[in-house]
Amino acid sequence: MVDDGRRVGRVGFVGRWNRANRANRGNHGAVFDAAGESGPLVELDHIGFSYHDPYGAGADSQEADTVLRDFSMTIRRGECVALLGPNGVGKTTIMRIINALEFPDAGTYRFCGTAVTRVRVEERNSLFAKALHQRIGFVFQNSDTQLFCPSVAEEIAFGPMQMGLDEAEVRRRVDDMIALFGLERLRDRAPYRLSGGEKKRVAIACCLSMNPDLLVLDEPTDGLDERNTDVVVRVLRSFVEAGKTVLLSTHHHDIVERLEARVVRVVPQE
Ligand SMILES: Nc1ncnc2c1ncn2[C@@H]1O[C@H](COP(=O)(O)OP(=O)(O)OP(=O)(O)O)[C@@H](O)[C@H]1O
Ligand SMILES: [Mg+2]
Repeated sequence: MVDDGRRVGRVGFVGRWNRANRANRGNHGAVFDAAGESGPLVELDHIGFSYHDPYGAGADSQEADTVLRDFSMTIRRGECVALLGPNGVGKTTIMRIINALEFPDAGTYRFCGTAVTRVRVEERNSLFAKALHQRIGFVFQNSDTQLFCPSVAEEIAFGPMQMGLDEAEVRRRVDDMIALFGLERLRDRAPYRLSGGEKKRVAIACCLSMNPDLLVLDEPTDGLDERNTDVVVRVLRSFVEAGKTVLLSTHHHDIVERLEARVVRVVPQE
């Protein structure tokens, strides 16, 4: 157990990963505005959002419940930000918007100064979507929605392979993640045969292996025991220390303190 502390102490390979990511980014052309690279990472500006249920009651009248009204938030590079607020207030929705899984009805969302719009993301073979999904990693609250490969090692290799990194770099990243998260014993195990806490470690490892600029985590310590919580806290702290940016939602105030996170409170719509 002490081992985990030592292993997870530093994410010392971020420098090497950054170089490999920069070299790889050349494949995507200039999809982000170069001027935006020095400004904030995330800008949500007066966002309005409703889920439109095409099959539910009120479908004919286009009835929809407003989840977010005039919501604004800025995240700068190197920050660790915690979204807090009661159940159902819209924390997961905000994270889905940042990951371009939902699009606001009003207001603008900019990532690195570039507007993230449905048209840009959903166009055929979108280079923008590909680049965005490499720069933002999303750890879902339920790890089952995220894990689908036959083994833990293949699961971690999947993202770096999709990025087009060469075989040696993919292998190094898998080994780095296995060591960082103490997954040696589980390397060849099918993800559906892992415990909830083990699945969560693998899901975070999968996102980190792509070396995103921003890691978004929806209630990452939910259901984790003390030891797994410690692992997650240490990894996130050292990821931020390495100059990366983290956004998480949580109901655990001690996690906010341990991460020294800046708190953004989401308040219910009246
Ligand atoms: N796919 C969906 N279709 C319709 N309504 C939805 C959908 N997903 C969420 N909602 C509604 O949107 C509101 C915000 O949900 P969201 O999941 O963002 O809240 P949350 O702050 O993450 O809550 P929790 O703390 O429980 O995770 C809730 O009222 C929820 O019922
Ligand atoms: Mg949620």
